[in-house]
Amino acid sequence: MDLDLKYPAISDLRNKARRRLPKFAFEYLDSATGTELGYQRNRDAWDSITFMPQILQGEHSFDLGCSFMGQKFDLPFGIAPVGMSGMIWPGAEKILATTAARHKIPYSLSTVAAADPEEVGPHTGGMGWFQLYPPADPKIRRDMIKRAKEAGFSTLVVTVDVPGESRRERQRRALISMPPKMTPSIICSMVMNPHWSLAMARAGAPRMKFPESYVDASGSDAFVHAGRLIRGWPDWDYLAELRSEWQGNMLVKGVMVPQDAKRLVTMGIDGVWVSNHSARQFEAAPSTIEQLPLIRDAVGGEYPLIVDSGISGGLDIMRALALGADFVFLGRAFHYAVAALGDKGGDHLVHILKSDLCANMSQIGSKTLSDLPSKIHHRGVCETSI
Ligand SMILES: Cc1cc2nc3c(=O)[nH]c(=O)nc-3n(C[C@H](O)[C@H](O)[C@H](O)COP(=O)(O)O)c2cc1C
Repeated sequence: MDLDLKYPAISDLRNKARRRLPKFAFEYLDSATGTELGYQRNRDAWDSITFMPQILQGEHSFDLGCSFMGQKFDLPFGIAPVGMSGMIWPGAEKILATTAARHKIPYSLSTVAAADPEEVGPHTGGMGWFQLYPPADPKIRRDMIKRAKEAGFSTLVVTVDVPGESRRERQRRALISMPPKMTPSIICSMVMNPHWSLAMARAGAPRMKFPESYVDASGSDAFVHAGRLIRGWPDWDYLAELRSEWQGNMLVKGVMVPQDAKRLVTMGIDGVWVSNHSARQFEAAPSTIEQLPLIRDAVGGEYPLIVDSGISGGLDIMRALALGADFVFLGRAFHYAVAALGDKGGDHLVHILKSDLCANMSQIGSKTLSDLPSKIHHRGVCETSI
């Protein structure tokens, strides 16, 4: 089957994932919080950015390779951390780590993934980053980052935009419980989705293995305790301590305010990840692409910047790079891809993103990533912010 004919876009992978997953798993992956207008705000902002087509530019070949925080990558995008990704598709962590290694792009493993760093590290081919939800107990924190480092994760991503639980009403309506419990509606939804259920039966029930390894309990108690353990309510002093404990590259994820970004630079944080968690945590935040140029202005031209939240194809990657990002991450899209196509999903999505990026770059006469900023025609909603 030619995947490019059957699933040419992320929306096709999403549709297929919706058909293949039990409702609770799809809603967990797909939902935002509140009325989900925050998600739409991100999308509207991406869509408002335009480029002027350029004609008669001669033959094209593209150089999409880039260097970010001293590491070389073949493409300017990566796979964002997604908690309980093994519940979305069994073994998703290893599948995506392998995809990242094959294409030389970063894969960020979540603290609350269904696989721990020791299991996933060997599959990353040096492309693994570890995302930390900071635990309150400094002893546990130190042990977590030590284990991540020993498992081969070279970069630490500290997520700071989850000060509490969000409501995510659509997810709740799907009667999801964590860890998944065998209620009649879950059993019914599993019977109707045999691909997922068989794969899950082979892999075993998904758990938050890494934080659970620090709690002295079992079953759903372990899950609840582990959830509390990583809600450390970090502040600036906490971050400074963590900075002194981690010798490698450290990124802070979930930054939306230029002044915060500036302060992170002065603290010795190596890079900032502009994210609003794709509106999963807070509905009223501005779009990330609106904040990106303001943050770029605040931190200066050379400082490493990532953006995510709502990216739906290669065109959005082009928009992000043109407005000041060095690198772009996608969370849901890679998990739609794995849910839709299993082992082949990550590769197919990389193909979609790469060919869409090249197709759009050829329309604006752009041959390298670095000339994208000069090709912008209209900054859309970002225009008013600058
Ligand atoms: C199901 C799901 C779980 C997530 N879990 C985490 C997590 O454990 N840690 C984290 O830093 N971000 C988490 N995120 C946020 C992503 O890392 C990323 O910021 C976001 O998904 C990017 O937007 P996109 O999904 O529109 O590409 C999660 C996102 C989703 C969709």
